[in-house]
Amino acid sequence: MNADVRQRLARLRAEIEKHNYQYYVLDAPLVPDAEYDRLFRELQALEAQYPDLATPDSPTRRVGGKPLDGFLPVRHAVPMLSIRTETDISDAGAITFDARVRRELGPGETATPIEYACELKFDGLAINLRYEQGVLVQAATRGDGETGEDVTQNVRTIHRIPLHLKGCEAKVLEVRGEVYMSRRDFQRYNEQQREHDLPTLVNPRNGAAGSIRQLDPVLAARRPLSFFAYGLGEVRGWELPETHGAVLDALSKMGVPVSGERAVVRGADGLVAFHRRIAAQRDSLPFDIDGVVYKVNHLALQAQLGFVTREPRWACAHKYPAEEQMTVVRDIEIQVGRTGKLTPVARLEPVFVGGTTVSNATLHNEGETRRKDVRVGDTVIVRRAGDVIPEVVGVVLDPSIPQDERKEDGRFDLFKLLKGKCPVCDSAIVREEGEADWRCTGGLYCPAQRKQALLHFASRRAMDIEGLGDKLVEQLVEGGIVQTPADLYTLGMSALADLERMGEKSAHNLIDAIAGSKRPALARFIYALGIRNVGETTAKDLARHFADMDNLIAADTDRLQLVPDVGPVVAQSIRAFFDEPHNRDVVAQLLKQGVQPQHTGTAAEVLPMSGKTFVLTGTLGSMSRDEAKERLEKLGAKVSGSVSKKTGYVVAGTEAGSKLDKAQELNVAVLDEQAFLRMLEENSQKLAG
Ligand code: IVH
Repeated sequence: MNADVRQRLARLRAEIEKHNYQYYVLDAPLVPDAEYDRLFRELQALEAQYPDLATPDSPTRRVGGKPLDGFLPVRHAVPMLSIRTETDISDAGAITFDARVRRELGPGETATPIEYACELKFDGLAINLRYEQGVLVQAATRGDGETGEDVTQNVRTIHRIPLHLKGCEAKVLEVRGEVYMSRRDFQRYNEQQREHDLPTLVNPRNGAAGSIRQLDPVLAARRPLSFFAYGLGEVRGWELPETHGAVLDALSKMGVPVSGERAVVRGADGLVAFHRRIAAQRDSLPFDIDGVVYKVNHLALQAQLGFVTREPRWACAHKYPAEEQMTVVRDIEIQVGRTGKLTPVARLEPVFVGGTTVSNATLHNEGETRRKDVRVGDTVIVRRAGDVIPEVVGVVLDPSIPQDERKEDGRFDLFKLLKGKCPVCDSAIVREEGEADWRCTGGLYCPAQRKQALLHFASRRAMDIEGLGDKLVEQLVEGGIVQTPADLYTLGMSALADLERMGEKSAHNLIDAIAGSKRPALARFIYALGIRNVGETTAKDLARHFADMDNLIAADTDRLQLVPDVGPVVAQSIRAFFDEPHNRDVVAQLLKQGVQPQHTGTAAEVLPMSGKTFVLTGTLGSMSRDEAKERLEKLGAKVSGSVSKKTGYVVAGTEAGSKLDKAQELNVAVLDEQAFLRMLEENSQKLAG
């Protein structure tokens, strides 16, 4: 029995780790997530049932255990050294290193160019992974190089780190490398935090270091970390290859992640070429690097070169321009995005960072600006990494400025700064409950939102104006020909004739398409206005309920909430939109230009039961529930699955259950089958005649 369980456990662990490797290292999953979850749950259940058979390298150990009180010290069997840095970021850095290596090796070794292994200098946290008989038994930080901290629990949660090595039973094999956070994971994590108005990580390096030193492994497991190996620590019972390059190849074969961006080159020319090639690629790498690392490739030569104090003579780091710099905030302005989102932007004293001169950096939103407490005149750290837009990471509080000069009322306040008005179009600004961003409400009118508004207005599911695409909207807006959707209906041949690549025929077609859009269904028209939180379905519900624009524009939030599926947030968005006079003007203009939203098929006067919501419960003798639903919907009623205050009628058949109780509790009208049939009959007659 136990032997069977043991075998099943081993099979499951191997299978799950194979999937982990495929997913996290190769980025090529073999099975759907559901299958992975199934295997994982089976393993968890078996281990819970047979706790004696649990092992330290089980993939279930990756999910994080109990919080720790602190980390235990770990003395490194082989000290973790640091590396000499060439601060000259020009080619000279590489040339100096090669010259020094040749000088130190002496004349015998320098007849032919030296062979070097070139790697990236990852910007994260150095970690020592100790494998005994191929099983990960301990992970430790570098600490002071002699003694680090035991962070095994947290490191186990990094899926890219193998819990056991493939095909390696060495008594001891210590793998050294860098734990890092990719730029994408860093951004995604921060975006999520920002959406919830929670603190963000300063940069990926702090993200990695902070997560590894997080005492609660469950929290650590939520931070998306990765790992690359770049060397070895203690080794016992494993025959070392001859070169550093071959060491990394061997680690990679064992399932340890090794970056593909490495090369074996010869001489200073080879180093310079590598430095330049990676510089050109730096922005497009998925993670931050702060330079490259050169290592003499042959381990025998490394041994011959030895160390000076705490640095090997056989290696050096060659830097790139820093991705973070200090500068001063000259002003804070608010930018209006294409969708009306208001973003505070710091205008900076220009600074060279991440390879370009930066004079603006985003502050993301009000909450984040306040949390970082960024103010005009402050010295700040700016980060520009990859092709991500530059951002203000934080304030460097100058000790020469007394703290009390930064008064409490100097704290960033977006609404106050803008006096409640969009800086572009003067429309009112709002922030929805639970949202981090302020927005301009002048969606139809605001120049910043013009292109977006026109494209949405003309889109297939809205007014369906064929031919009014990206490029044309761009030209119409840039040329000042069209300002709001209403202007489309005044376009004549002469205005279009001057546009690029616009022949007479396409101009005609466009004018026809615009004219052809003048009688849209009311639902499409409402959707086309681009009211925040009003998608197609809500637009249909609104059209059905209000039957014309005047009714909709006049409805207060209470009335709006009588519409099925319209809650306080959506009602507020609709109100904010129509409260803005600019938007009402544009709607009035559209109607004046001859746009006539059609109520056919949805309006109250056409469909006798529109605006009424029914809930069906129990069994009807005369028809199935589906038939009942269909007949109601044909008459304009809506059928919902649950009873609420908004429910108009509950139709109770035999054996009606809790929905009937709920109806009575909420005082909702209840119809028996006969009353229901009568109502259907009456309304059908209304419809017919
Ligand atoms: S080799 C004996 N290779 O840079 C040489 N280090 O001061 C030991 N680092 O914090 C280091 N990428 O974590 C080496 N490809 C790489 C590296 C690298 C990043 C970090 C390392 C340490 C610092 C070395």
